[in-house]
Amino acid sequence: MKNDFDVKMQEFKEYISRLEYLRSTIAVLSWDASVNMPKKSVPYRGEVLGYLSGEEYKLETSDKMKEFIDYFSAAGELDDVSKAMLRTVKKQYDMYKKVPEEKYTEYNMLISNAQSVWEDAKNKSDYSMFKPYLKKIIEYNKEFADCLSSSENKYDTLLDIYEPGITVEKLDEVFGELRDAIVELLRKIEKSGVKVNDSFFRKKFPEDRQEAIGRFALDKMGFDFDAGRLDTYMHPFTTNFNNKDVRITTFYRDDDVRSSIFSCIHEGGHAIYEQDVPDELQHTLVGMGASMGIHESQSRFYENIVGRSKAFCKFFYPEMLKTFPELKGISFEDFYKAMNIVEPSLVRTEADELTYSLHIIIRYEIEKAFMSGKVTVDELPELWNKKYKEYLGIEPENDAEGILQDVHWAGGMIGYFPSYALGNIYGAQFLHKMVNDVPDIFDKVENGDLDSVHQWLKENIHKYGAVYEPQELIKKVTGEELNAKYFIQYLNNKYSEIYNLK
Ligand code: CO
Repeated sequence: MKNDFDVKMQEFKEYISRLEYLRSTIAVLSWDASVNMPKKSVPYRGEVLGYLSGEEYKLETSDKMKEFIDYFSAAGELDDVSKAMLRTVKKQYDMYKKVPEEKYTEYNMLISNAQSVWEDAKNKSDYSMFKPYLKKIIEYNKEFADCLSSSENKYDTLLDIYEPGITVEKLDEVFGELRDAIVELLRKIEKSGVKVNDSFFRKKFPEDRQEAIGRFALDKMGFDFDAGRLDTYMHPFTTNFNNKDVRITTFYRDDDVRSSIFSCIHEGGHAIYEQDVPDELQHTLVGMGASMGIHESQSRFYENIVGRSKAFCKFFYPEMLKTFPELKGISFEDFYKAMNIVEPSLVRTEADELTYSLHIIIRYEIEKAFMSGKVTVDELPELWNKKYKEYLGIEPENDAEGILQDVHWAGGMIGYFPSYALGNIYGAQFLHKMVNDVPDIFDKVENGDLDSVHQWLKENIHKYGAVYEPQELIKKVTGEELNAKYFIQYLNNKYSEIYNLK
C-alpha cells in the first residue's frame, strides 16, 4: 500500500507533466515561428502563444500548486530530486506571487514597447530615444527586487534569478581578478608585434559545404541527429522540447567561414547537454541544464576549450582542407593561429575567446552601478565608452556600437550578462578536473576521438540535469568553489604560445 507521501508525489508529478507538455508545445511553436513559419502567420501565432502562456501561468500560480509547495515544504527530509523539484516550482511561484499582478502587466507592456523603441533607436544610433524606457525598466527591476527579497543589494536578487547563488561580492572578486589578468595579457599581445593573418577565412565559401563541415563537427562531438535537428536561422540558438528532441540553428555568413562552424559547435555543446539528461528526470521540471551559466560552460567548453585547441585543430585541419579546396596552401600553423586570433572589437557577439569576457565584465560593472544608483541613465553612454577605452583600448563612435548594442536591457534582462563569462570560468575549472581524471584526453582529441570528452561531461555534469544549483554542482564536480584561477592560467598558457610572449 502506498503511503500519503507517495500518493501526493505521484499527483505532483502528473501536475508537473501537464506544465511540461505546455512548455514544450510553446517551445515547438516558437521554434517554428523562427525557422519555418510564413510571414503572414505572425499575428495568429502571437495569439496562440499568448493563450498558451496564460495557461502556463495558471498552472504555475494555482492554488493546487500552493498546496503542493506547502505539503512538500513540511514533509521533512526530501531526496535530491524532490528537493530540486520543490525549489524550482517555489521559485517560480514566488516570482509571480510576491509581485503584484498589475505591476507585471504594466511591466510587460513597457518591455514590448521598449524592444521596438530600442530597435529604432539602434538603427538611428540615438540613445536619447531609448533612455526614458531604460530608466523605467531599471525602476521596475528595483521594485521587483524589493518584492522578491529583503536583501540589501537589489542587484544580488536579480543575479540570483539567472544564476542561483551568485552575488555581487563573489563576482567582484572573480571578475575583478579576471579583468586585470586579461587586460594585462592583451597589452602584452599588442606589444608582441606578432600579427596573425586570418584573411583566408574571411571569404565567401559555398553554403552547402559550410553545412557539411558543421554537421561533421556535430556528429564527432556526439550530437544525436536522431534526437535533434540542425536548421538555419539568423541568430543561432538551441531549443529543447525534451531530451529526445533538441534543435539547433546556425547561420552561414559569406564573409567568414569560421562563424557557422563555431556556432554549430557552440550550440552543439548546449544541445548535447540537454540530450544527455537522463530519462528518469523527465516530468520533474529539473530534466534540463542546471543554469544559464552552467549551460554556457558546456557550449563554450566545446567551442573554445576543445574546438579551438591545438589538438582539435590538428584533427580538423585536414578535414577543412578537404571540404574547402580554397584553403589549399595554408599551413597548419597559420590555420591554428587564425582560429585563435585576438582582436579587440566593439561588438560582444563578434569577440574572440580572450576579449569576450571583458565585454561581459563591462556590462556587469555598469549594471551594478545603475542598480545601486551610483550612476544615472544620462551617464551610461559615457561610462560605457570610458570602460571600452580603458579595458579594450578602443572606443565606440556612436550609441549603436556602444550603449545600444544589446537587446537584453530592452527585454528587461538585468543580471543576465554575467552568466556568459561565468560559463568561461566554470569551463576552465571543469577542464582542470577533466585533465586530472584523464591525462591523455587531448591526445585522444587529436586523433578525432571526442567521445572521451563527451563521456566525462556526461558523467560529471549532464547526468545531474538541474538537480543541483550551480555553486553546489561546481563543488561536487571539482571539489572547489567558483574561482578564476584556472581560466586565467588557461588563457595565459594558450596565448603566450600563440603570440610568443615571454
Ligand atoms: Co550559448
